[in-house]
Amino acid sequence: MTRRKRVVGLDLGTSKVATVVGEADEFGNINIIGVGEAPTEGLRRGVVVNIEKTVGSITAAAQAAERMAGVRFDSVVVSLAGPHLSSQNSRGVIAVSRDSHEIGPDDVERVVDASRAVSVPSDREVVHVIPRTFTVDGQDGVKEAMGMTGTRLEVETHIVTGAQTSIQNVIKCVHQAGFDVDDVVGQGLASGLAVLSSNEMELGVCLIDIGAGTTDVVVFSEGSGLHLAVLAVGGNHVTSDIAIGLRTTLTEAETLKLNYGHTLAEVIPGEERIEVREVGGERVQEVPRRFLAEIIGPRVREIFQMAREEVRKSGYDGLLPAGVVVTGGGARLLGTIDAAQGVFDSSVRLGLPAGFGGLSDRVSGPSFATAVGLVRWGAQLGAAPGNGRHNGNGHGHGNGNGNLTTAYSKTVRWLRDFF
Ligand SMILES: Nc1ncnc2c1ncn2[C@@H]1O[C@H](COP(=O)(O)OP(=O)(O)OP(=O)(O)O)[C@@H](O)[C@H]1O
Ligand SMILES: [Mg+2]
Repeated sequence: MTRRKRVVGLDLGTSKVATVVGEADEFGNINIIGVGEAPTEGLRRGVVVNIEKTVGSITAAAQAAERMAGVRFDSVVVSLAGPHLSSQNSRGVIAVSRDSHEIGPDDVERVVDASRAVSVPSDREVVHVIPRTFTVDGQDGVKEAMGMTGTRLEVETHIVTGAQTSIQNVIKCVHQAGFDVDDVVGQGLASGLAVLSSNEMELGVCLIDIGAGTTDVVVFSEGSGLHLAVLAVGGNHVTSDIAIGLRTTLTEAETLKLNYGHTLAEVIPGEERIEVREVGGERVQEVPRRFLAEIIGPRVREIFQMAREEVRKSGYDGLLPAGVVVTGGGARLLGTIDAAQGVFDSSVRLGLPAGFGGLSDRVSGPSFATAVGLVRWGAQLGAAPGNGRHNGNGHGHGNGNGNLTTAYSKTVRWLRDFF
């Protein structure tokens, strides 16, 4: 009989909370059985600024998902965002403990732990320690250290840290909404799990998730993340540029962006005009649609330039054969892929959640990338503790990249002690 594990992803976005309920079988295949969404007003640039409003949104989105799924759940994998997240790479080294020199799960855990001994300021907390590759007695590039024989075990890890208070506020909101937290996951890492193939992650790829208040940038290579940054800009900034440029309200600016927005002025015929309602007034002015693109284009290109700067910082600029994958609600803006191609000298594609069964059509848009990625993350959690290579069966899209989730949920354990 197939055993199924139920996992709930809760993406706490700046514009919406998205809750996705999935069921995973032992091969890592995931069926989506419920989806709920609710607008949020309690976050700014990915960070909770109003607990009460955020709790209300979580409750609404969770109830909607429970109704659709016809099941109740009591724990979730929740996303983390905000420019306070940052990453660094670290190394750990230990002597293998057994007399037989066979590397066991405890050795793997110990060496990963040793790599955590980086200096983290007291107001920051380690969110993820992701083992990238092991070295056994000088032999590097080892993906599966467990079971090998050696005396000296080394690991290279990717460490993501965030501001303690911001992380605590996310956990607090989820708890107040009545749910336990299985894990907290950087939004970009989750989105990557939803929209990237394991091949892309192996070759080297930059994932860009343009949300409402933030843009997540994660560089992946050799199967796992190696650089993560959260830019404090997103689709909301495009909207406010339009509001300022056309002297209209944010609501009107958002509508104009959704209906007529484009990043490339040169593809809009000069005679096309749009109607814009001025602030506080009845007056409607007609402006060329090109105007709108002339406002949008520079901002979107700026976001991609900032993202490319992060790729440069990672040391992988020009070294990402799988190019760039853009997702998040902001990626729906017409011309976004062209804008990215103009900034990155590489191939660019739109990233949509892929490889899910069940009600997958309900989560096929780019704004669901994080939420469904959280489900995949949760499905892999604890699947093969100790080695960071979970369910490496290669089935389906995005599988076989399980070493992303070997955070051992230590953050969660640590945070549980707090509340
Ligand atoms: N068709 C569209 N054209 C242009 N922009 C769009 C479209 N649909 C959504 N957006 C923009 O996408 C953004 C919302 O994306 P998303 O739902 O991914 O954000 P979020 O996850 O709530 O925010 P964040 O990730 O920053 O916390 C908004 O700025 C919205 O204007
Ligand atoms: Mg988002």
